[in-house]
Amino acid sequence: MFKGKTILTGVKPTGTPHLGNYLGAIKPAIELGKKAGKHYMFIADYHAINAEKDPAVLNQKLKEIACIYLAGGLNPEHSVFYRQSDIPEIPEITTILYAYTPKGFMNKAHAYKAAVDKNREAGKPDDDGINMGLYTYPTLMAADILTFNSDIVPVGKDQVQHVEIARDIAGAINAHYGKSLLHLPEYYIDEHVAVVPGIDGRKMSKSYGNVIPLFEDDKAIKKAIFSIKTDSRPMEEPKDPEGILVYEIYKSIATEEQLREMADGLHQGKLGYGHIKNMLLDAVVNEIKDAREKYNYYMAHYDEVEEMLAAGAAKARPVARETLERLKDAVFGR
Ligand code: ADP
Ligand code: TRP
Repeated sequence: MFKGKTILTGVKPTGTPHLGNYLGAIKPAIELGKKAGKHYMFIADYHAINAEKDPAVLNQKLKEIACIYLAGGLNPEHSVFYRQSDIPEIPEITTILYAYTPKGFMNKAHAYKAAVDKNREAGKPDDDGINMGLYTYPTLMAADILTFNSDIVPVGKDQVQHVEIARDIAGAINAHYGKSLLHLPEYYIDEHVAVVPGIDGRKMSKSYGNVIPLFEDDKAIKKAIFSIKTDSRPMEEPKDPEGILVYEIYKSIATEEQLREMADGLHQGKLGYGHIKNMLLDAVVNEIKDAREKYNYYMAHYDEVEEMLAAGAAKARPVARETLERLKDAVFGR
């Protein structure tokens, strides 16, 4: 399905990624990229400035996300790894796409709608605090995608609408000029990726403050794992593992054999909550051990990462320029 295809992955540098992000988005994206004919992997820093205005915070988040992808196994020799703001053709292409983007698409885009709903709930005017960057962000995202002739865009469910908007805009432009100027992208949702529960049982999310941290020290990870909710049943009482939160989180990280061991121990009353928390801790630490080492290395040698990003931009820009010129030729009748 992915052989010979161009896959494009974009990630916004906001928040510090947690275990749920790592297992649910970062690792699968890296694995998928390896299967692609061509893989573009970029950090969407222009998207981030809509919400984050502090340059120091932006810079820190960008560094973290770049190092996390490298630590997770992204290979910059295979994947074209770049920063959106290093490719000036993308905002130029965005400007052209605007002319073919119905305003109604933006009104219906869910990030904007969610911001309006929030304002209404708070009794504020609809557009309070909403900037044009947020409002028009699906068009910039369309440019991210269309610039590189992407076949497949792996996304979470919340981003499907944006890939469809990109496809619609490309279709409108192709129809207007009667030729295939832009490649029509498709979204891809990985159904195998499970939602990792947080330490309170809801979806692990930075907005719920229920995360298992990723690249902090073992102490911080242990603290999070040992605060996972349990009940007061004694160890000897045979338990159904299903529904026990520690076991549910373990599912997203353990091998089948490890999982069976925990299930059997719970069924037979041989494992208590302390035991299974330690098993989860071991699995988490084991999963991230190598990646954490690499992460710390890249954070401490960020100049190397900068070089990789510059090399990535140098590979990406000729492709972007080609798309831009193709569009300008058509639009201006050159
Ligand atoms: P958060 O909920 O912490 O704010 P984001 O919404 O920024 O996370 O999600 C970033 C990416 O990580 C998305 O692709 C999302 O699907 C994935 N993701 C987030 N939380 C989880 C989770 N608990 N389990 C699996 N994947 C997750
Ligand atoms: N909007 C995406 C998000 O919030 C990030 C993103 C920006 C992106 N441009 C993209 C994702 C292009 C895929 C393709 O997660």
